[in-house]
Amino acid sequence: MSDRDPDRVELASAGEEDTERIGYAIGCRLRGGERLALSGELGAGKTCLVRGLAAGLGVDRELVRSPSFPVILPYEGGRLPLYHIDLFRQAEGAGDVEELREYLYGEGVAAVEWWERLPEPLTDYLSVAITFVGTERRSLVVEQHGVGYDRALDALRAMS
Ligand SMILES: Nc1ncnc2c1ncn2[C@@H]1O[C@H](COP(=O)(O)OP(=O)(O)OP(=O)(O)O)[C@@H](O)[C@H]1O
Ligand SMILES: [Mg+2]
Repeated sequence: MSDRDPDRVELASAGEEDTERIGYAIGCRLRGGERLALSGELGAGKTCLVRGLAAGLGVDRELVRSPSFPVILPYEGGRLPLYHIDLFRQAEGAGDVEELREYLYGEGVAAVEWWERLPEPLTDYLSVAITFVGTERRSLVVEQHGVGYDRALDALRAMS
């Protein structure tokens, strides 16, 4: 049934390159003003996916690292700016809401790791949940919440 859900795609990744490729496919289809909510345990591959996302937005993938301090890293130089946010070190509900909103609902693309710790719920976003299947294998469930991600989902469906 879930295969027919127009808002959901499940993909398998056999390694880092696959996860990056999935991020790239998403990035290529974004037009600005989107949010990606990434979840998965430590080392699942969230940052890896952002690396591909960056490439898909025309941002140098080498710029991507793990934001810890500051928790927001802006990557410029692409077709659209990419704001990489990682709330791992932030207590749930903490953080400057106004500042976060500027990045989350700006003209660029925001990718948030540990988004469960955002001080308020997101609207119109694409969630990517990564789970471990083996040492290198991962399962990725990509789901649209609200509107704006049909093109990205179609591209992923073609890859699945
Ligand atoms: N299929 C895969 N997809 C992504 N990364 C993989 C995969 N298989 C192995 N890896 C390895 O897992 C690690 C993923 O690291 P990454 O920093 O992307 O995780 P993360 O989810 O962002 O973790 P954190 O919560 O600490 O930020 C990398 O070392 C990568 O080489
Ligand atoms: Mg990370």
